[in-house]
Amino acid sequence: MTELNAALEHPVYNYKVVRQFAIMTVVWGVVGMLVGVLIAAQLAWPALNFDLPWTTFSRLRPLHTNAVIFAFGGSALFATSYYVVQRTCQTRLISDRLATITFWGWQLVIVAAAVTLPLGFTSSKEYAELEWPIDILIAIVWVLYAVVFFGTIARRKTSHIYVANWFFGAFIVTVAVLHIINSAALPVSLTKSYSVYSGTVDAMVQWWYGHNAVGFFLTAGFLGMMYYFVPKQAERPVYSYRLSIVHFWALVAVYIWAGPHHLHYTALPDWAQSLGMVMSLILLAPSWGGMINGIMTLSGAWHKLRDDPILRFMVVSLSFYGMSTFEGPMMSIKTVNSLSHYTDWTIGHVHSGALGWVAMISIGSLYHLIPPLFNRERMYSTNLINVHFWMSTIGTVLYIASMWVNGIMQGLMWRAYNQDGTLTYAFVESVAASYPGYVVRVIGGAIFFAGMLIMAYNVYMTTRKDVPAQAPVPSASAASGA
Ligand code: HEM
Ligand code: HEM
Repeated sequence: MTELNAALEHPVYNYKVVRQFAIMTVVWGVVGMLVGVLIAAQLAWPALNFDLPWTTFSRLRPLHTNAVIFAFGGSALFATSYYVVQRTCQTRLISDRLATITFWGWQLVIVAAAVTLPLGFTSSKEYAELEWPIDILIAIVWVLYAVVFFGTIARRKTSHIYVANWFFGAFIVTVAVLHIINSAALPVSLTKSYSVYSGTVDAMVQWWYGHNAVGFFLTAGFLGMMYYFVPKQAERPVYSYRLSIVHFWALVAVYIWAGPHHLHYTALPDWAQSLGMVMSLILLAPSWGGMINGIMTLSGAWHKLRDDPILRFMVVSLSFYGMSTFEGPMMSIKTVNSLSHYTDWTIGHVHSGALGWVAMISIGSLYHLIPPLFNRERMYSTNLINVHFWMSTIGTVLYIASMWVNGIMQGLMWRAYNQDGTLTYAFVESVAASYPGYVVRVIGGAIFFAGMLIMAYNVYMTTRKDVPAQAPVPSASAASGA
């Protein structure tokens, strides 16, 4: 073991796997968002499809979604859950070997996705495009993840289980169930399979999965992150522990029913659509309970926002979470959905959640996490974190505002009738009218992406081997919410 590795080895906790996932979060964030900028540019300037099958929008779009959700978001969730479960349970991960297998297994899944999607191998189920051999690998890695996480909880040295672990735990269990049920398929070759479900049932299973991928992958896990890192960074206890418990049970109980709002005005029975709509409206309450709990944790610490850009990342991410979980229930109302569905409004909603909430809470948490992992007192440059914060915020606002304008315009153009009952606009006219919005999105996306490059530089400089360690790793005391 080199001197540096020895210095980084924590006596109590397994920080190695956390470091590996943390670094890969930054790497996959850069890659996934670069592809995002490229596909955004393709929608503005189609020549960028290069007339090659591997680089068409249709193949790169799932590459983008898989890279940002599962590679970037997934690595962030692995890193933070492994860190938080050890710190709050005051015990080392139950097995270093299993943890290492989950790291390499997950990277293998990502590389397999990056190869097969551009080649055109797809199950054509959104957010579950990967073909059956990769699906089996995902299931294995995920079950091992569950063993490591829950095994560590089982041998905790604390009497209670801190609430962040509840959210991580719900995310791990639910994603396993969703993935295994939705990916059930009949293989016809190594690279092609067909879903075991058909027709409307297939659509319902897919959107039960899809919506809960949002609810548990893109929400519950990141709430776990929020419940640990916001109190830590603000140096305040969670605003209300009771609210966090109510919030947890309400969120997990309601999310699972809301999937049909993705299938409004389809062959799905009307009652199921209405049930999905009502559950989505109810979902506003637990979502805002969590948002309020996070933001109010800053009571008495608001002044810290003046000079702490990490805390700014966290608070702004919570604001975007509040915004997107207000917008989502509104969009699930059938009459609103009849305007928003198929338009860029949905894409704007997705990225107010994805960039504003998921990416920003992950970035804030990583800036908090990386210095102790690498035995440093702080990040290399606080100024660069501040620059990154503004770039992320401006990038997100440009992205979502342009998509709102485009989306509402498209919806209104498509439903405009002349007095004689003919359509006022041809579809292509709405495409032409969307062009300025697409250009603004490329600019917003590029700004967000450039911020990620600044982060990569800052992380590299913080972790450089030739910079001497500035401080010992913080003591093993539990976070317990404070
Ligand atoms: C630089 C940042 C990003 C850019 C420029 C970008 C761009 C895009 C574009 C152009 C699309 C396709 C839109 C369409 O089909 O009309 C898309 C889809 C999507 N992106 Fe991103 N993206 C970025 C970051 C992210 C992140 C960080 C996440 C998740 C954490 C994310 C999640 C998604 C999802 C889920 C979709 C599919 C949306 C749907 O089907 O409704 N994106 N993105
Ligand atoms: C209370 C919470 C939320 C509700 C009720 C909700 C509701 C909705 C609705 C109604 C749609 C449009 C469905 C359609 O017309 O096709 C949608 C799409 C979407 N939402 Fe949300 N949303 C919520 C929160 C979030 C958050 C926090 C995120 C991201 C982190 C998110 C990610 C997405 C994605 C990725 C889609 C696009 C799915 C697709 O068509 O590919 N949502 N949501």
